[in-house]
Amino acid sequence: MPKISNDLIIEIRNKVDIVDVISEYLPLTQKGKNYFALCPFHDDHSPSMSISPEKQIYTCFVCGASGNVFTFLMEYEHLNFIEAVKLMANKVGVSLPISDYIKFKKNDQYENLYKIYDLSNKFYQNYLNTANGKDAKEYLYQRNFTDEIINEFQIGLAPFNNKVSNLLQKNKFSITEITESGICNFNNDELKDIFVNRIMFPLWNLSGQVIGFSGRIYSELDTAKYINSKESKLFKKGELLYNYHRAKDEARRQKKVIIVEGFMDVLALYKHGVKNVVATMGTAITHEQALLIKKLASQIILCFDGDEAGAKATINCGNELSNINVIPQVIRLSDNFDPDDYIEKKGINAFLKQIEEPVSFINYKIEYLKKEKNFNDPNAISLYIDEVIKELSNINDTVVRELLLQKISAETNVSIETLTNILNKEINKKPKINNKKPEVKKSVKRLNKYEQAEQRMLYYMLHYKEVIKIYKNHNCYFPNQIARYLASEIVQYYDKYKNIEIADYLSYLGDKEELVNLTTKIMALQLPEEYLEDEINDYIKVLDEFTINLELNNLEEQFKKETDIELKTEIATKIIEIKKGVDISD
Ligand code: UTP
Ligand code: MN
Repeated sequence: MPKISNDLIIEIRNKVDIVDVISEYLPLTQKGKNYFALCPFHDDHSPSMSISPEKQIYTCFVCGASGNVFTFLMEYEHLNFIEAVKLMANKVGVSLPISDYIKFKKNDQYENLYKIYDLSNKFYQNYLNTANGKDAKEYLYQRNFTDEIINEFQIGLAPFNNKVSNLLQKNKFSITEITESGICNFNNDELKDIFVNRIMFPLWNLSGQVIGFSGRIYSELDTAKYINSKESKLFKKGELLYNYHRAKDEARRQKKVIIVEGFMDVLALYKHGVKNVVATMGTAITHEQALLIKKLASQIILCFDGDEAGAKATINCGNELSNINVIPQVIRLSDNFDPDDYIEKKGINAFLKQIEEPVSFINYKIEYLKKEKNFNDPNAISLYIDEVIKELSNINDTVVRELLLQKISAETNVSIETLTNILNKEINKKPKINNKKPEVKKSVKRLNKYEQAEQRMLYYMLHYKEVIKIYKNHNCYFPNQIARYLASEIVQYYDKYKNIEIADYLSYLGDKEELVNLTTKIMALQLPEEYLEDEINDYIKVLDEFTINLELNNLEEQFKKETDIELKTEIATKIIEIKKGVDISD
């Protein structure tokens, strides 16, 4: 991994203000000396994330997410540490002594899997450009793909004759790795390509690495239109959105994102320069995908296929988004068209006009409930009112509620009073919403007193150099190995900089994931800012007790195993001495 000096990282971090950076992603409100935002890392309903301009860190008091500006970017933008540093370096005009960012994290346990996808992807792309790719290219041109789009989206062609299996084996990947990728099968002692003569669309993870493929038929018609590589350790369909990494900047710039079903629809829009678009890839949207969408923009437009399946998908996706407090807008395309068909048949301008005039999700939902109900039948009206009132009861805005009640009253001829009564009954049925602050998430396991002392000690070490000195003088021993490692890093940092600054200390840890995780966990502890010396001494006493118990246990084990009487007596004496509280270190 290219090494950027810690001093340079500190310089970059000191040039950016975490409040500025986070405010580019989230709306912030100032309260006292800190800023607050809805935490993007959990399903937050009241602003639980605080950002301290003074300490240059953020902390969520509900889910415990916390860190400095780099950690924020790593979490939010799905970057690795170097990428986050690079992003900030560009922002403040510091040039870094590395040419390009590392493509594969070194020692990443999935390094080979990434390489397999990468190598196959290049092979498919090249193959499309050979004479064998003539028909496939022709098909793509017919669908109005330009060479530019084909290159940008790395579209390729899968060959015949297990060429990819052979290529991967030649490159010394193991059979297990190759089959794990979902590109090849191993049957009857033979590796075989799963994708044969299909146009290949690579699928990327959130940071733009290839982690799978979807292959489309273009000549034979009697087989599945698309096949996807199977889910792997890297490819989980429900956790990604097609084109996310490419769309995110544009979506944030425009504060608007379009959600479509198929990746062909993404490409259709892209061909016409509409780049703030991602696809769910034809499955019911998951909670994870909804959270990703929420991160992209405040205005979200669902533009699913115009058929009945697309109508249902719109409702499901809208509900999933509403669950996390995101209210999308909807456009519905005529003639059962999907966005691609619509643009082909009616032109991009007609499509853009639709995008300018989306309807609110609740209006769409009401229309959906109304469809196919016979308003001459009182029972159908009653059912409709039941369904619609349930939806209205979820709306907090009284004006919106009132306007919708008027509309429903007008179309059903049921008086506003009656509708209001039904609505109030529905609202009263709901469990009262607890307006208290959500309870701070406690770690699942209750900490024992040693773990508690260890964490608190670390907390104060991260805040006060005086406590680091106490730790050094006492030669404390922490029960947990990672905590010990963390403490020794704190000491090293202190020895170098003669101070402790959490935000810089975090960048000092860089990619050491376990240490960063423990540090952020400890930062999220809600402890008093100031410490009392007695308190620190108590922690040290508890930790000493742990060390002594550990030693006693060891000796007792030895005592049990020892057969030589003389040695046994020696051990017994040591045990007694320790129990008496006598120092027997030599
Ligand atoms: P569609 O059937 O709407 O495909 O499936 P499309 O986007 O219109 O593609 P073209 O225009 O016919 O080429 C939407 C999404 O569902 C998934 C794919 O991810 C596709 O993008 N899908 C569809 C499959 O995984 N397998 C299939 O057989 C069909
Ligand atoms: Mn289509």
